[in-house]
Amino acid sequence: MKRILLLNGPNLNRLGLREPHIYGSVTLNELELQLKTIASSKNIELVCYQSNHEGGLIDQIHEAEVKADGIIINPGAFTHYSYAIRDAIASIAKPVIEVHISNVHAREEFRHTSVIAPVTVGQIVGLGLYGYELALLALVEKLGEEEKDEQN
Ligand code: DQA
Repeated sequence: MKRILLLNGPNLNRLGLREPHIYGSVTLNELELQLKTIASSKNIELVCYQSNHEGGLIDQIHEAEVKADGIIINPGAFTHYSYAIRDAIASIAKPVIEVHISNVHAREEFRHTSVIAPVTVGQIVGLGLYGYELALLALVEKLGEEEKDEQN
């Protein structure tokens, strides 16, 4: 069974409470349960981890090299300045998809830059929590394609 790691960065433990006009009223726990259900219907194990600490996220990314087949990450505000998370992603040979709940391009200027995006397969922005579901489906598709290439 393939395994996908879902990483959420700082303040995303506050989903449902935090600025609901931007991030909605669904909690992280509810989101994770919903995504796990979708993953298992695709025969994928989804492992979820949230941290407010850069190092915790980096450790998870390193471990994913051996423990997971791909990563979905919402790095929160680290998106905009964490070269350390970017380097961690660049250090592993696994596909990573970046997700943002809000449309970062329609918000403050500091949110317009992602230092993470260049080391990811792609980015999903501004589609609310649905973005996580889309990222999951895209990653499942990508892992299936990789498997086909390996067989040929
Ligand atoms: C966010 C956007 C970031 O700018 C912000 O710091 C977050 C959440 C999003 O999902 O829209 O914490 O990553």
